[in-house]
Amino acid sequence: MSDESRQTAGLVEGEKKPIEPPSSPERRTFLGVMIGAGMTIFGVLAAIPLVRFALYPLYAKAASVTWSDVGPADSFASLSAPVQKLVSVEQRDGWRESVSEKPVYVTKDKQGQVVVLSAICPHLGCQVTWSADRQDFFCPCHGSVFAPDGTRISGPTPRGMDSLESTVQDGQLKVRYQYFRQLMPNKEVAD
Ligand code: FES
Repeated sequence: MSDESRQTAGLVEGEKKPIEPPSSPERRTFLGVMIGAGMTIFGVLAAIPLVRFALYPLYAKAASVTWSDVGPADSFASLSAPVQKLVSVEQRDGWRESVSEKPVYVTKDKQGQVVVLSAICPHLGCQVTWSADRQDFFCPCHGSVFAPDGTRISGPTPRGMDSLESTVQDGQLKVRYQYFRQLMPNKEVAD
């Protein structure tokens, strides 16, 4: 390098090139904050699908109640006494799905319409049975008694037997099986 060039570059012969100062602590802190914020945002966005996946059983709960076949609607048209039926019920417990059989009674209400009753006693949940001899429903646990249409006659039960939503589709009587709170004077669906 010529003397002229060195002078232009601000260097004198024998003098060392000045060392660049390290980046300031403020600059490093700012970069660290920006990287941390970016990683946090990325982590939150990546976690959204996982959270939706984990919470699905909670917000899908209402859709987990399904219709179950009870039997041909014609076979219940001329009922003279309640009949017990077992219905297959699909249940969802979190991510686990299972099918179990539940007893229900098909009977007629005071207007002569076919209704389906849960066999679970509204008192403390024992299974109610139909007595053909006495022509009433009886709970063996604490002695509650119900009329053929499910209304309460006596005993500690706070209400009559719980009716279940039912419909006829393609000649089949179908029921929507649900659980109801016990010890309540009025029917309330259990969560
Ligand atoms: S559980 Fe039925 S009377 Fe108590």
